[in-house]
Amino acid sequence: MRLKNKSRNLTTIRCYPGRRCSFSVLLWSIVGCLVLLNLYCFIFEKDAPHGGAHLRINQHQHFRELEEVEEDNIQMPPPRKRSARAVKRKPKRPTTLIEEFLDEASQLRHVFFPGLRTAIDPCRSSGNDTYYYYPGRMWLDTEGNPIQAHGGGILHDQRTKMYYWYGEYKDGPTYHAHKKGAARVDVIGVGCYSSKDLWTWKNEGIVLAAEEHNETHDLYKLNVLERPKVIYNEKTGKYVMWMHIDDTNYTKALTGVAISDLPTGPFNYLYSKRPHGYESRDMTLFKDDDGVAYLVYSSEDNSELHIGPLNEEYMDVTQSMRRILVGQHREAPALFKHEGTYYMITSGCTGWAPNEALAHAAESIMGPWETIGNPCIGGNKVFRETTFFAQSTFVLPLPELHGSFIFMADRWNPADLKDSRYVWLPLRVSGPVDHPLEYNFGFPLWSRVSVYWHKRWRLPYRWQEIN
Ligand code: DGJ
Repeated sequence: MRLKNKSRNLTTIRCYPGRRCSFSVLLWSIVGCLVLLNLYCFIFEKDAPHGGAHLRINQHQHFRELEEVEEDNIQMPPPRKRSARAVKRKPKRPTTLIEEFLDEASQLRHVFFPGLRTAIDPCRSSGNDTYYYYPGRMWLDTEGNPIQAHGGGILHDQRTKMYYWYGEYKDGPTYHAHKKGAARVDVIGVGCYSSKDLWTWKNEGIVLAAEEHNETHDLYKLNVLERPKVIYNEKTGKYVMWMHIDDTNYTKALTGVAISDLPTGPFNYLYSKRPHGYESRDMTLFKDDDGVAYLVYSSEDNSELHIGPLNEEYMDVTQSMRRILVGQHREAPALFKHEGTYYMITSGCTGWAPNEALAHAAESIMGPWETIGNPCIGGNKVFRETTFFAQSTFVLPLPELHGSFIFMADRWNPADLKDSRYVWLPLRVSGPVDHPLEYNFGFPLWSRVSVYWHKRWRLPYRWQEIN
């Protein structure tokens, strides 16, 4: 009995001198207050413009939808009967899915490169398909033509509140300059498309055009112009484009710079150089929250990446440069930031053939950078080991959807480069990494970067109005 009394004494609180109120009453009062507070927030937000509460409540459900990956089990086709001539011409028949992917005559061609009939056509889509991305399908602009913005990147322009997608305009014949040369298309220029919803794209034309006749010009059509990226400089009011400039054999390894007063060009080509005096092939730009922009490029025969800040005008690099991912042979860098941590996705170096993506993370943009593993989830093993048969080019932040990004990749078609496809997929930064290497007081420093495979997906309903 005593014990019982003692314990009851422990759970009572003296509220007023001489009076006692039970702990459970207090607890229920707190619960009541919380319920009332929630109800208030619900009613208040419901009345808020654009139905914000509804959107927020649905946000978790949408994240779940974006993270629900699909399996894709593509079967190898049965061996084809081949004529003696065909065997002589090409003795080996594809034995892996990657070889099958690269084989122009593959019976699976339509799986990787579906025809025009299934194209994403925002201007003619029926209700069921509106806003849906179909990675790998043809994607038409508002005039009904396939979008030509390969190896591209997106600028969200604060002034016009528009998205601008810049990329390689490759609408010409694919050929090999010589027997051992990589497949190529003559330089036509940098294409630009504008959109408000990231789905319907209007062709704004070629904003930086190739040079037809002057063989000494960087933009001469027989050279190489790849992976253009554009950022806006608040101080100068200029849109600044950086790109990979090269000769047909990729021996010059330069970065080129162009500027414009408008996001839709025309861009004025300024010059090219080897940044910091080093080779520069695949590259990207990243503009940090403090306005400092960085150039990241594959160097030293693509064996490592270099990173360094641009000057205030974004027209040149500064002296500061760090070597990162040394000896890892990575290219196609796409850098982004989440909650103060920097992340990057890169590919291996296998020409136009797909390979495994890796995610990297760093506390400071100048490094050290650490490799945290393959971000691809879903599809099947081959899908994950080939970045869904594509190669990274850009990661677009969606600040409205906390921790969500669009992973942009190119599914190159080396037999017909203009028919290369876009693989856009939801990317989320959340959850623990598979093999955390770096710890901070016992907590892993990085979150998991995940790119989720979907045959079809769309952004949450009215995503731009969230927040
Ligand atoms: C891989 C690069 O990422 C592409 O931009 C392009 O340069 C191809 N190599 C050419 O083979």
